[in-house]
Amino acid sequence: MSKILNVEHLGKTYTSGSKQLTVLDDINFSVETGETFAIIGPSGSGKTTLLGLCAGLDYPDTGTVELSGTDISSLNEDERARLRNENVGFIFQNFQLLPTLTAIENVVVPLELQGVNNPMKIGKELLGKVGLGDRLHHYPSQLSGGEQQRVALARAFSNGPSILFADEPTGNLDQDTGDRIVQLLFELNQEAGTTLVIVSHDLELAQKCKHQLRLRGGKVVSNEILIES
Ligand SMILES: Nc1ncnc2c1ncn2[C@@H]1O[C@H](COP(=O)(O)OP(=O)(O)OP(=O)(O)O)[C@@H](O)[C@H]1O
Ligand SMILES: [Mg+2]
Repeated sequence: MSKILNVEHLGKTYTSGSKQLTVLDDINFSVETGETFAIIGPSGSGKTTLLGLCAGLDYPDTGTVELSGTDISSLNEDERARLRNENVGFIFQNFQLLPTLTAIENVVVPLELQGVNNPMKIGKELLGKVGLGDRLHHYPSQLSGGEQQRVALARAFSNGPSILFADEPTGNLDQDTGDRIVQLLFELNQEAGTTLVIVSHDLELAQKCKHQLRLRGGKVVSNEILIES
């Protein structure tokens, strides 16, 4: 199996005023192509920070992130954006939908910016798939939390990513909606071979993943294979 993500000696320190806060300290792990990988740990342990670094959304202070065989610290901002557009899907903990765009526009506009053919068709199909075919023209403020999460999911799938990072994809959702989101994620993994890296407090979801990395206080405390393939 080839590695789609390789993280070595990764560290991140935030400075606020005279204080320094080391949020991630010497993190090492790798994710194989096509696998499902859960990151768990208490609130504040550095999960969201780690995901952002892995997806090339943020810069580390030490160490390297290799994504699809490329060391992302060697890329300039444009190259990094291209790598993200072509390979990476991201579902944020707080959805991050654009409030002035409708559901369908939130999915289609990034595709238009990337020059993808027929973005409207892709957008409609994806929103249909997440059960929002009748909510295309609603703005985020007119959608429930679970519906916004599903728009974010459709947007994350839209570029056919080889790796999808999902930060608490079932946070704040009821059991049924959460289960549906999880089902969609795992379908994507099985049908398209998309690698999933999921941050979750939901242990049931984390147990479904092949691999589980546990963080505490910015350090890896365990890295286990749960399901042998
Ligand atoms: N931009 C920032 N500046 C300073 N400190 C930050 C910044 N972003 C995050 N932190 C701190 O880094 C630590 C890790 O934050 P992070 O969001 O990665 O945690 P998390 O594990 O995702 O938590 P949660 O489960 O609550 O989402 C926290 O103590 C947080 O306060
Ligand atoms: Mg977080």
